[in-house]
Amino acid sequence: MIKVDLSHAKLNEDIASYKDKVAEIHEMIHNKTGAGNDFLGWVDLPTQYDREEVARIKAKAKSLSEEIDVLLVCGIGGSYLGARAAIEAINGLYPTQKVEILYIGNTFSSTYLAQIKEYVKDKEFGINVISKSGTTTETSVAFRIFKEMLEQTKGKEVASRRIVATTDAHKGALKTLADKEGYEEFVVPDDIGGRFSVLTAVGLFPIAMAGIDVDEMMKGAKDAQDKYNNADLMTNDAYKYGVARQMLNKQGYPAEMFVTYELQLSNVAEWWKQLFGESEGKEGKGVLPHSAVFSTDLHSLGQFIQEGSKVLFETVFKVEKPQLDLEVPSDEDNLDNLNYLAGKTVDYVNKKACEGTIDAHVNVGGVPNIEITIDEMNAYSFGYMVYFFEKACALSVYLLGVNPFNQPGVEVYKKNMFKLLGKPGY
Ligand code: PA5
Repeated sequence: MIKVDLSHAKLNEDIASYKDKVAEIHEMIHNKTGAGNDFLGWVDLPTQYDREEVARIKAKAKSLSEEIDVLLVCGIGGSYLGARAAIEAINGLYPTQKVEILYIGNTFSSTYLAQIKEYVKDKEFGINVISKSGTTTETSVAFRIFKEMLEQTKGKEVASRRIVATTDAHKGALKTLADKEGYEEFVVPDDIGGRFSVLTAVGLFPIAMAGIDVDEMMKGAKDAQDKYNNADLMTNDAYKYGVARQMLNKQGYPAEMFVTYELQLSNVAEWWKQLFGESEGKEGKGVLPHSAVFSTDLHSLGQFIQEGSKVLFETVFKVEKPQLDLEVPSDEDNLDNLNYLAGKTVDYVNKKACEGTIDAHVNVGGVPNIEITIDEMNAYSFGYMVYFFEKACALSVYLLGVNPFNQPGVEVYKKNMFKLLGKPGY
């Protein structure tokens, strides 16, 4: 399903020299003995998830889909990026599913929120508010605005039926509110942090609302759990990737550019950036996660990658089989001189662009490339891919010697903002 190719990675040590260290970290992850071990619930999630809750997720998604045209997914960071990545990667950027999914609660942009208000004003909409803490300001502000709108236009009873809260099982402001208003509630498990939570209700409810088969997604994740429960670096591709990126970091490349050749994977890149950036960017350490979609960005960032300062390596994420394809037509006049491509598919051209770019960046530009290939993009492979990157991330960050599962730095801006806003207690 996923293959890692390091033949263009320009590693200057033998990766096998990390074998023992990797086996040690593997045991640490599975025996839950490392830093942040309270947040390892994602490791066994694909086999141990709450089946009863997933049945409720599917039932609520079915009934709510009959009632609304738009679902506002209200959350930020780990509380929305995974769902958005999945929905766009699987259904595309111009989807035909019954319920349109829009994202709020991830910004203080007044223009954005006002435009969404205008867009949904004559539509039947519902809200899935997602917050583990239940107090995240971006999410709370947007939720208050759209909850009020729904209650004023549809009445309290309908609003309560159309609002779904995904939050902590026992505590927090959102939990209290959801209990009081009688919203359907789903749980963010205690032992799974936001950026590792896409395969919990956090991601699964919006994904189910987009008409995607969540059982298939969990099946893919389960197969990846089995596959990567393997301490041997030489046969575990998730670990190979996790090690290779730290080797390149050590070789003097402080930045990693995640590259895809599918526009609809740009939010997979955003999810990947949060996963790696928030997990390892601490104690003055870590590889800066960055991303690009080629060939689009070859016409902007391509120049820098080819000839600019040598600060980055690329991780090229390839999808072997496109969801759809089309042929370049033949043209009798051939005024655009494109007949040499007539009869070829656009994906064939995309693959040749990829091949040519890797050659240019690696062999002329001297930029190391890690290549990761996934067979195709669907619900099953998305679940598989999520688990692959989560396992690679945990290994990689432990290898760097930091706790992958906390994010102390994100509190600093909040304290300043609360003080400036006059929040009581700040
Ligand atoms: O990964 C994380 O922990 C964060 O990105 C959180 O998911 C994000 O800050 C949202 O937090 P909450 O779900 O508590 O609203």
